[in-house]
Amino acid sequence: MKKEFYAIAIDGPSGAGKSTMAKILAANLKITYLDTGAMYRAAAVYATKQGIDVNDRVNVIKLLDTLDIGISYEDGHQTVSLNGEDVSLTIREPWVSMKASDISKIPEVRTKLVDLQRKIAAGKNVVMDGRDIATCVLPDAQVKIFLTASAEARAQRRHAELLEKGNNISYQEVYEDIIRRDENDMNRAVSPLRQAEDAILLDTSDLNIEQSVMAIEEIVKQRGVL
Ligand code: DC
Repeated sequence: MKKEFYAIAIDGPSGAGKSTMAKILAANLKITYLDTGAMYRAAAVYATKQGIDVNDRVNVIKLLDTLDIGISYEDGHQTVSLNGEDVSLTIREPWVSMKASDISKIPEVRTKLVDLQRKIAAGKNVVMDGRDIATCVLPDAQVKIFLTASAEARAQRRHAELLEKGNNISYQEVYEDIIRRDENDMNRAVSPLRQAEDAILLDTSDLNIEQSVMAIEEIVKQRGVL
């Protein structure tokens, strides 16, 4: 029997194009989009603003009670608020990336954010992107895609994106950050980044955005949820 609502899970390493793909897919299918990385980024910004090291588990856990992350949508854009303050731009600053990866290793942080992610997904059609969506957050998702690309291709895309936003960062810095984050995200103890057994692998190293979207929409159609 077909379920009332469907979920599309897109996981993969940094810079594989998950958010770009998920955003386009959500607009085309008119469903809710959730970028879960934004939540770990917001948590990292919060701890840092409070003067807490993101690797200081004991003190990060103490902060969780007052961490209030809000997600809202305007014209299809996801707005992220931190205790009422819009941090949508701050969380994209390069210094936040590695801190988000580090704070995401703390099991209590994951528990809180996964709970919030499931609440947002409940009772609606959703496309969610992250590292553990198919393996942990939404294991029953009807469509599971593991999106990847070579580290060079991912670094080039991320670098171009950051330059466009006015961040004067070198390619080498972006490349090294990607490699370090891959290491961190794949080797953590709780919900490490890995392809779910029933996920479909899509390598976009040689695909442009349009081709990647077409490939994903084909997978979605094949899964018969539309
Ligand atoms: O997708 P992103 O680059 O914005 O994510 C930032 C970090 O957050 C990433 O390096 C690891 C962590 N993350 C996670 O552990 N689980 C998710 N579902 C999403 C992100």
